[in-house]
Amino acid sequence: MQNHKKIIGLLPNEDAYGNNIADTFYGKGGGYDIIEREDGHFTLNGDSDAYTEAFDNWSQIQKLSSKYVNGKVLDIGCGGGKHSVYFQEQGVNITGMDNSPLALQICGERGLENTLLCDVLRLDHTVIDELDSIILWGNNFGLLQNSVVAKKFFKNCLKMCNPDAKILIETLDPYGKAFNLDDDKSYIEENRLNGRLGGQIRVRVRYRHFVTPWRDYLFVSKQELNEILEDTGWIVTNTFDDKEIDQYIAVIERN
Ligand SMILES: C[S@@+](CC[C@H](N)C(=O)[O-])C[C@H]1O[C@@H](n2cnc3c(N)ncnc32)[C@H](O)[C@@H]1O
Repeated sequence: MQNHKKIIGLLPNEDAYGNNIADTFYGKGGGYDIIEREDGHFTLNGDSDAYTEAFDNWSQIQKLSSKYVNGKVLDIGCGGGKHSVYFQEQGVNITGMDNSPLALQICGERGLENTLLCDVLRLDHTVIDELDSIILWGNNFGLLQNSVVAKKFFKNCLKMCNPDAKILIETLDPYGKAFNLDDDKSYIEENRLNGRLGGQIRVRVRYRHFVTPWRDYLFVSKQELNEILEDTGWIVTNTFDDKEIDQYIAVIERN
């Protein structure tokens, strides 16, 4: 039985991720999404079970940092429930949150008991509290958009979380190996010249005719992450690194 709470989500024509996840789940196609950046650079993500794949196929850094995910947990931007469904099976009291109504419908069909339709920008202690862990995986640190929104998120977490809580964020270093094309480098450089963080990319996501609103999406180096956390009451206590692509999961706790 699905316990589904609704705060705010995407309109039907904006639900690109949800339609991809649903089409894939129902065997009606799917298996791709397109990230359209404001400078005209398109990236095709084409992995058909990316949002539902089993633990064995998770990245090494996700597997290793899973030990920190326990108690009452919130999975922000849970997609098809790849992580939430697994942790629930391990006995964790997890809620899958997304702004995609269709993604959460599929999570329910996959057996996820607790789902929350909410935009990360609307999330605070009036929506959910007493959390022991929060995960922002699948590079979902990006959903925090920019340093101002990210700082506000971590300040809100003080009231959403129990004292020993751990927040696990995943991101790519924007100055590392994943951004080695000339147009990536020039985009990142132009961001910095314009006073933005280098990895603050403006994108929308397309699948079939569904397209999300334009939003900033943030990739950060470890140094930038530490700067964002200054004066928020939170610090990085551990990191798990994938040096092949300069991706990392940071474990963040109260200081
Ligand atoms: C790249 S997918 C990652 C899914 C999942 N975490 C995984 O690793 O398989 C990003 C997810 O975040 C959700 N999302 C995007 N913007 C969001 C927002 N502002 N608030 C909440 N969820 C959001 C999307 O609908 C999508 O399901």
